[in-house]
Amino acid sequence: MKSQAVQLSLFADYNDAPQRRREVNVATVPQRSPFRYPGGKTWLVPIARQWFAQAKPGAHLIEPFAGGGIIGLTAAAEYQFERITLVERDDDMAAAWQTILSGNCQWLMERIASFQPTAENIRWAISRAADGIKERGFATIVRNRTNHGGILADGAGMIRNGENGKGLGSRWYPATLNKRIDSISRMRHRIEFIHGDAFEVMEQYIDDTRALFFIDPPLHCCWSPFVHSPRSKSPSNFRAGEANAGTLHAYLQRLSGSAQLGKNVRATVHHRAHANHTPENQG
Ligand SMILES: C[S@@+](CC[C@H](N)C(=O)[O-])C[C@H]1O[C@@H](n2cnc3c(N)ncnc32)[C@H](O)[C@@H]1O
Repeated sequence: MKSQAVQLSLFADYNDAPQRRREVNVATVPQRSPFRYPGGKTWLVPIARQWFAQAKPGAHLIEPFAGGGIIGLTAAAEYQFERITLVERDDDMAAAWQTILSGNCQWLMERIASFQPTAENIRWAISRAADGIKERGFATIVRNRTNHGGILADGAGMIRNGENGKGLGSRWYPATLNKRIDSISRMRHRIEFIHGDAFEVMEQYIDDTRALFFIDPPLHCCWSPFVHSPRSKSPSNFRAGEANAGTLHAYLQRLSGSAQLGKNVRATVHHRAHANHTPENQG
């Protein structure tokens, strides 16, 4: 019988997650991602390190819902993984990752260094996104650093007052951004980026015992009746989430490697694992 791949052991109990989160001093965690990300997992880095430390030589870390990719970037910078694969479906995020990990990285850093984040310049950069991958990648970074909360969805507004009343430039730190981008670029021989679908990539590695998956889908993807979220009561989200949680759970059952889950789906799987598995197949 295939052993149960999902490890729930980083938290003794799902309910420990908020407490562990409070215990982590995020100021001590290296910020490696150039993106501000709603649902970013910086706080999870110390816990993920415990998981990485148990990985066997030749292990391959896959982050199928990459977003800002903080867990994959930490793995690349601090651990001897054979390979790191980041997967992202969003076209704008994909353009940014592709540019950072390509020969256009230097171009990107020069653009960042010389950019003045005025409203006019921001609108200009965004209007150039259709010109090509690198322009789209740059526009994504500009939007991410100048929109409220880093949200990239159409219609998300620009920061008004920003930090300390510094307005649009309050999150635009070109030297810091370029330092992070440069570090990622130096690791690019070990980082593979796939612009595609998380489930398709998980399918490719389903039988690979060396694959470790950090699975952190957006909240609405895997919202299920098991997860109580006071923030979202939308019936359509609820239905979509329920269907996708089922799909994700089916994948988790089939993975041969090991998987860790972002907070959003942990409760779902935790409940289902308890409901569906006998103790002997929770290995
Ligand atoms: C919760 S965020 C990940 C945050 C990330 N862990 C971090 O720390 O920055 C989820 C990401 O998954 C992406 N996504 C959603 N559905 C996807 C799919 N089917 N395949 C690949 N990426 C997907 C979203 O665009 C979003 O960027």
